[in-house]
Amino acid sequence: MKTVIELINEEVKKAFKEKGYDEKYGAVTLSNRPDLCQYQCNGALAAAKQYKMPPIKIAEEIVEILKENSIFKNISAIMPGFINMTLNEEFFANYLNQMRLDESFGYEKEKHPQTIVIDYGGPNIAKPLHVGHMRSAVIGESLKRILRFSGHKVIGDAHLGDWGTQMGLVIAGLKMRKPDLVYFDENYQGEYPKEAPFTLSELEEIYPAASELSKENPEFREEAKHITYLLQNGHRGYTAIWMHMLDVSVSDLKRIYEILNVSFDLWKKESDAQPYIADMVNYLKENNYARISEGALVVDVKEETDTKEYPPCMILKSDGATLYDTTDLATIVERMKLFDPDRIIYITDKRQELYFERIFRCARKTKLVKEDTILNFIGFGTMNGKGGKPFKTRDGGVMRLEVLIKNVTDEVYNKIMENRNMDEDEAREVASKVGIAALKYGDLSNQVSKDYIFDVDRFTSFEGDTGPYILYTIVRIKSILAKYNELRKDEKMDPVINPATSPVENDLMLQITKFNEVVKSATEEMAPHKICQFIFDLANAFNSFYHETKIIAEEDANKQNSWITLITLVLDILLLCIDLLGFEAPERM
Ligand code: ARG
Repeated sequence: MKTVIELINEEVKKAFKEKGYDEKYGAVTLSNRPDLCQYQCNGALAAAKQYKMPPIKIAEEIVEILKENSIFKNISAIMPGFINMTLNEEFFANYLNQMRLDESFGYEKEKHPQTIVIDYGGPNIAKPLHVGHMRSAVIGESLKRILRFSGHKVIGDAHLGDWGTQMGLVIAGLKMRKPDLVYFDENYQGEYPKEAPFTLSELEEIYPAASELSKENPEFREEAKHITYLLQNGHRGYTAIWMHMLDVSVSDLKRIYEILNVSFDLWKKESDAQPYIADMVNYLKENNYARISEGALVVDVKEETDTKEYPPCMILKSDGATLYDTTDLATIVERMKLFDPDRIIYITDKRQELYFERIFRCARKTKLVKEDTILNFIGFGTMNGKGGKPFKTRDGGVMRLEVLIKNVTDEVYNKIMENRNMDEDEAREVASKVGIAALKYGDLSNQVSKDYIFDVDRFTSFEGDTGPYILYTIVRIKSILAKYNELRKDEKMDPVINPATSPVENDLMLQITKFNEVVKSATEEMAPHKICQFIFDLANAFNSFYHETKIIAEEDANKQNSWITLITLVLDILLLCIDLLGFEAPERM
């Protein structure tokens, strides 16, 4: 369906043309004074300059024509030359009835769908997930759903970090603790045990300890580097340990992502790019894209107009070892080969922006991607604690994601137990859904690139611009519908929405019609916060309507049927939107 703005645009542009003006002046926007009108056109002000006429004259001419048009309830020319418009109630009712019957609620799917790979999550083997990974996962999951709803073919890839020096560090750390393990016996020829030689918590202990040690002990650091190199070149024992690390880590990661309602289509890893590296290196050398600098193989990515430093991409270190640059470039080769994507989107902390700019430049310059392949970097801001500093645990450490999730769900649980009578099991279940909504909405309602403050109290509040408030509204609508169905179970009517009979009802209708515009701009700008804003406004409009309207007590069955149809549409749209954001509603709360 065309959006309401598009429909009004057509009418207003036609009028400008009819009066001999360029139709571009007929562009309409939502009103920035909703107390005066719903839509506005400021084109007469600009047209006045071109046609050397007083703007108000032009506005009046346009209004004269459009006054007869049945979609407008009110249209007027306002000094110095604004055109203010308010639409007819019938128009909204018709529009909503069409939305209701459309499976995407009137949203027009992409005419030229792209194949898109989204690289998000980016967890690292042997390191627990922390809040930075949460942002990537939460934002990526939502963008994946939004782009998919828009009609694109989207492939979400976790792109596990399993290939860098941290692997060598963990193996070196393990060797120090358990030097007698068969993996470290260079003469061992037999099969390695199926059982991992460590538990998850041991593994998570080894990495930070090894990382600390490597800072103060150069010998240990060298050993870890050497082990990394051997691992990347297929050392049997280290490969076996590394596979155990993958197993142990991945099953735990999957468990936590599931709690977060995040799911990847692919669990590819940095190491999966390894088989592409040798060919890529040859290709870069043969085509003279790469040069040797102090023994290392690099590709320059500087451009003349640069105002900051763009260090070259490092393809191979002087000892032949590969780096983060290498795997990312080889991963692009792999993705092009496996999926031939039109677009690849990376979602990480915005501190990696320069890094990805370099990678993108390199991939373009060396033609690892096609000329029209779009490479997007989406950098997110930091989640800060209440003091405005990056969020930390009480003792200053990095908070594990699992602990963070638990804190939020516990808070919701307490709120439920304080205010409602619900048995403990149900309250736990409800709290886990509401907690995830609180966390995700708290994150996604901010513009992605902005830092934001993590505030458990505010995020879990059932009032205000929060996930729980949205869910509460959903639950409220469900309960009205359940009551209605009980009341009228023997006298079902065909659903239809009638023109509004009160200003609050009209406002609610107006708000619903914005759905397709919002999804469109959320898709184009890759901005989930636009959906949050929309559902917050929608929930508010619904609640104002609800407080002024006695739906269940209404005796006029037609009126009641129309209201029920209307709030069913509100419910369906809210449910769709929270699904696009990546959370779910409980049955009650
Ligand atoms: N594992 C990385 C990290 O923890 C994020 C990976 C992002 N994706 C990529 N293709 N480099 O910072």
